[in-house]
Amino acid sequence: MTKSDMTSDMAPARPKLFIEHLSVVFNDDIPAAIGDVSLQIAEGEFVAIVGPSGCGKSTLLKVVAGLQAARSGTVEVARAPGGRDPKIGFMFQRDTLLPWATVTSNISVGCELSGVPKDKHAERIASLISLVRLQGYENHYPSALSGGMRQRVSLARLLAFEPDLYLMDEPFGALDYQTKIVMGRELLRIWEASRRSIVFVTHDIEEAVALADRVIVMGARPGRIVASHDVMFERPRDPRSLRGDPRFGSLVQTIWSELAIDD
Ligand SMILES: Nc1ncnc2c1ncn2[C@@H]1O[C@H](COP(=O)(O)OP(=O)(O)OP(=O)(O)O)[C@@H](O)[C@H]1O
Ligand SMILES: [Mg+2]
Repeated sequence: MTKSDMTSDMAPARPKLFIEHLSVVFNDDIPAAIGDVSLQIAEGEFVAIVGPSGCGKSTLLKVVAGLQAARSGTVEVARAPGGRDPKIGFMFQRDTLLPWATVTSNISVGCELSGVPKDKHAERIASLISLVRLQGYENHYPSALSGGMRQRVSLARLLAFEPDLYLMDEPFGALDYQTKIVMGRELLRIWEASRRSIVFVTHDIEEAVALADRVIVMGARPGRIVASHDVMFERPRDPRSLRGDPRFGSLVQTIWSELAIDD
């Protein structure tokens, strides 16, 4: 038996996230928030979701995180290596920082939950603060930060948790263009080193194409998947230089037109 025969005999790798025939209904008098969505995300895959406001993107992430009940369907997150429960990290659309805690203390919550030994926390927090460019703000409270700065603290807290599955709901929505590009590049760098699965919701089609392996396009009323595109660019990527590639512009245009059809 050749090696390739052996490989083909092996069971296919389990997806990290398995969603089948999912539906979520908030009110029976209006179309389902999510109607019959099926989606599989592979171990280490970076998937972006785009779609009009109200099409169920946040609801989908909340169901995966166990924060929202489904009407019907299946949602499974594969176990982590060694058989432990998977750590699901959620970066919410609205920031959920603790208002009474400083930047350092907010990030330390992620460390506490991560299982990283306590004597490593201070070093880890310092490196994350530098990663999200918040040096000098360590002792500030969220109320003294801009929306974009709060979002960067949320990102640092998420990274401190070291999730097996990242659920990111418009994580860079409050950032200026330049910081968004820098944060996207940093996220890719971290992801390329650790290869955890990411579901990344965004309204920015260019950001989706620049970062993801696959872009899922959702439509509304009921919330559903209308298209899925594999992104052809090789890794590692520099999101900024990709934007000059004609294939980049062409995929962005295609996704634009799919979103327009649903208007
Ligand atoms: N807790 C809730 N109770 C009732 N309806 C809800 C609730 N949460 C969401 N919905 C409804 O479900 C639909 C999908 O909402 P969701 O927040 O998932 O949209 P979204 O795609 O994330 O939109 P946006 O891009 O604006 O963030 C909307 O019609 C919304 O009104
Ligand atoms: Mg949302």
